[in-house]
Amino acid sequence: MIYITTPIYYPNDRPHLGTAYTTLVADAVARYWRLKGEEVWFLTGTDEHGLKIARAAEERGMTPQAWVDHIVERFHEAWDLLDISHDDFIRTTEDRHTATVQALLTAMRDAGDVYEARYEGPYCVSCEAYYTEDQLVDGVCPIHERPTEIHAEDNYFFRLSAYADRLLAHIEANPEFVTPETRRNEVVSFVEQGLEDISISRASLTWGVPLPWDGSHVAYVWMDALINYVSAAGYLDEPDRFAATWPAWAHLVGKDILRFHAIIWPAMLMSAGLPLPRQIASHGFLLVGGEKMSKSRANQILPGDLVPTFGPDGYRYHFLRDVSFGPDGNFSWEGMAARYNADLANDFGNLVNRTLNLAERYRDGAVPAVAADGPDEAPLREGAAAAVEALAGFEEFKTKQALEGVWRLFRAANAYLEATEPWKLAKDPAQAGRLDEVLNASLEALRVGAIVTWPAMPRAAETLWARLGLDGGPGDGPLAETARFGTFPAVTVTKGDPLFPRIETDE
Ligand code: MSP
Repeated sequence: MIYITTPIYYPNDRPHLGTAYTTLVADAVARYWRLKGEEVWFLTGTDEHGLKIARAAEERGMTPQAWVDHIVERFHEAWDLLDISHDDFIRTTEDRHTATVQALLTAMRDAGDVYEARYEGPYCVSCEAYYTEDQLVDGVCPIHERPTEIHAEDNYFFRLSAYADRLLAHIEANPEFVTPETRRNEVVSFVEQGLEDISISRASLTWGVPLPWDGSHVAYVWMDALINYVSAAGYLDEPDRFAATWPAWAHLVGKDILRFHAIIWPAMLMSAGLPLPRQIASHGFLLVGGEKMSKSRANQILPGDLVPTFGPDGYRYHFLRDVSFGPDGNFSWEGMAARYNADLANDFGNLVNRTLNLAERYRDGAVPAVAADGPDEAPLREGAAAAVEALAGFEEFKTKQALEGVWRLFRAANAYLEATEPWKLAKDPAQAGRLDEVLNASLEALRVGAIVTWPAMPRAAETLWARLGLDGGPGDGPLAETARFGTFPAVTVTKGDPLFPRIETDE
């Protein structure tokens, strides 16, 4: 089972392009694995406890529960808008989760890893994290560039310090545990400096999961949040499902929350006696005008600002094709429009229009199932094979490379039409057989094209599939069989409207 997760998002505001990025990559990768024929469990959700949420609710004069119930709908809307295909959506206020938090913290305590002590230090409410004085930059939070607050209270602590050596050994033995490599190095040097124990509870807050052994404390929101990955896998009362799902194949996270996932979470799992996830894959930030897009900077652009112009597929394609998973990436409307027009309106969209147009004009949409396998067709077959091979980039979150590879098929198919000139063949009755072959091979390229674009652009791929008159769907898989370049079947295709209408950029 491929169990893949996104972070669970703070429902203090609606999701923006930055938060949507992780979910989008996870979705494309989940779809890729389904296309390969793997069983997949794709989880996302919301992180609903903690001080940040309590304050967001208070500012609106609402109870925290009423506030999160309201805002969680914005997440569902955004994921629907972007055709996100998660199998489960966990909310940390659900019973299945709160009970799991209590069970896991109890297991950590039973292992002798929890003790009580006093804590005092700077706290960033936006991060929901304590800092030490020397981690602050000019006295403010290094991530949010906002003032921290001094928090002091008696807390329960987790003996994180005891796990440094085991963590280092695990990372060394499993080089793919943290990716990309720069992030792994960062984690390793952080752990090598020695780990401090961390506070796992708050006595001053009521909006959280009560500690099972001391109801005057609630679990620190990050302890609560990380446990979502096992709550949703059935840790508490579904042993069979848990055994099939856990450990996760990958947790996808932004670089700001890497330490929680690559250090604290594995130590919690070790303490509770559970296996570690296979991989923590970390990406950079989406920037606008060089700044991190964020709620606190009020520079956010929402998916709903772009989808009416670009469609869900234009949106998905741009972020998967132009943002490398790892480094920071800059967002610009102009860049997105240029990419859309070049790759979708021109390369892919025109190919679809031309091919279906030719099939309708010369064969009323019913092209006989006759295949050719000559030198003209070789680049098509190679393009299809290259596209399938490149898709494996999704296994390492190389969405850009995967889609570059897919485009080799479309370039080959466009070049094929130029080289074989079916519009000339149509003028010569003696070439009717050759015209059938050329149309068949071109339709076959579209059929394979629909399959290999499905992880990135499911809606366009499914629309194309329907126009090709094929049974089932492009995502049915298994890829190794369905994407083999062969003979297009004797069905009737229909032209339809342009899949990707051009966007006027000079307005
Ligand atoms: N609730 C925690 C995660 C708990 S996971 C057990 C949290 N939530 S968040 O809503 O603030 O952020 C969720 C994810 O969105 C993080 O991975 C973060 O990196 C990502 N992003 C937030 N802004 C972003 C950009 N501008 N660009 C890319 N990703 C960004 O942290």
